[in-house]
Amino acid sequence: MTDHRERLAADLTAARDRTLLLTDHDDPELLHQHTPLLSPLVWDLAHIGQQEDLWLLRGGDAGRPGLLPPDVESLYDAFTQPRAVRARLPLLPPVEARAFGREVRGRVLDRLETLGVADDGDPFDFAMVVSHEQQHDETMLQALNLRVGPPLLGPGTVLPPGRSGLAGTSVLVPGGEFVVGVDAADEPFSLDNERPAHAVDVPAFRIGRVPVTNDEYAQFVADGGYGSPRWWSPRGWQHRLDADLERPQFWAADGTRTRFGIAEALPPDEPVQHVTFFEAEAYAAWAGARLPNEVEWEKAATWDPVTGRRRRFPWGSAEPTDALANLGGGALRPAPVGAYPAGASAYGVEQLMGEVWEWTSSPFQPWPGFLPMLYADYSAPFFGGDYRVLRGGSWAVAATIVRPSFRNWDHPYRRQIFSGVRLAWDV
Ligand SMILES: [Fe+2]
Repeated sequence: MTDHRERLAADLTAARDRTLLLTDHDDPELLHQHTPLLSPLVWDLAHIGQQEDLWLLRGGDAGRPGLLPPDVESLYDAFTQPRAVRARLPLLPPVEARAFGREVRGRVLDRLETLGVADDGDPFDFAMVVSHEQQHDETMLQALNLRVGPPLLGPGTVLPPGRSGLAGTSVLVPGGEFVVGVDAADEPFSLDNERPAHAVDVPAFRIGRVPVTNDEYAQFVADGGYGSPRWWSPRGWQHRLDADLERPQFWAADGTRTRFGIAEALPPDEPVQHVTFFEAEAYAAWAGARLPNEVEWEKAATWDPVTGRRRRFPWGSAEPTDALANLGGGALRPAPVGAYPAGASAYGVEQLMGEVWEWTSSPFQPWPGFLPMLYADYSAPFFGGDYRVLRGGSWAVAATIVRPSFRNWDHPYRRQIFSGVRLAWDV
């Protein structure tokens, strides 16, 4: 328990440091809504505190009074206040949102101190709240990326160089049984939709050694990929027409792209990002491939055919470091392909964790035996909806909250997210 407590206190503090860094801007900056798809940052700021108050100080019981008056608290309910309207709500001003967050956090750290002494509490709820805050930090980065104006965040940290000759190559994953998903015993902080672990038989397939690069994707664009319905699903083609898609979001026709307000030449060896599921699918068809399903993805990431067991991470059991994966959000971009040879999976697949969220062909469904967690509305309302699963975590994801079993989901037409493509092939 003490180990968990120390780790959770550190993780809570790291998440808050990141939140404060991403919201360390003038009030008008925080109040401005850059797109109806995302909240003004000041909403995220108070919502993070409101959820922490609800789950860690009130055990998830919204009927118990919280630190905010009920009419103010209701402004931060993500289910009743759609993102598009949030800038028009009478939100707490930034100074009050920060003070509220500090007050909640002080009480939460006091509660964590006594955990396992005063009560027999399961620290899972703390991990869930860490994950929630870090996930909002990623959506705040999406909003900051859509912001128009001089750059606020700078170019990002330096990344390791890539290796040549990897783009377009693939590895074979032989057929056979493997265990998909995890149990609380092995991953106590895994979320409900990652559980339970269960054996599945996966036919042999090939999978891209690295994600699809900007250079590869630009060839699809140059080859008229956006003008030819043959590569697209009927729905994807209709969306391409309706949304007038011509190339990935943030790309310009002159071969440059904009990233957090910086216009720069498109880095050829960097994984392509900001594509919809429909674009990922069309690219794959053009390339004579398909998208992996999420079970294939997880097998390529975790299975060790020599031991016949799952690895905790693609590279083994060690926690992620800067030498293994591009995570944590400091880079503000994916690393070139080949930058993390030490992070390869047992099959030799690289850059599965970090870089870009990889679209899979899988709709979002519960694993057999699914049980909702404390925050019962986290996953269950979304099962069977118009979503596709994305795997691996982007460069913007905190290393402390992501695992190979982590399942993200989004609408197939979204692309402000840090989404990219990895190919697969039938054998
Ligand atoms: Fe939230």
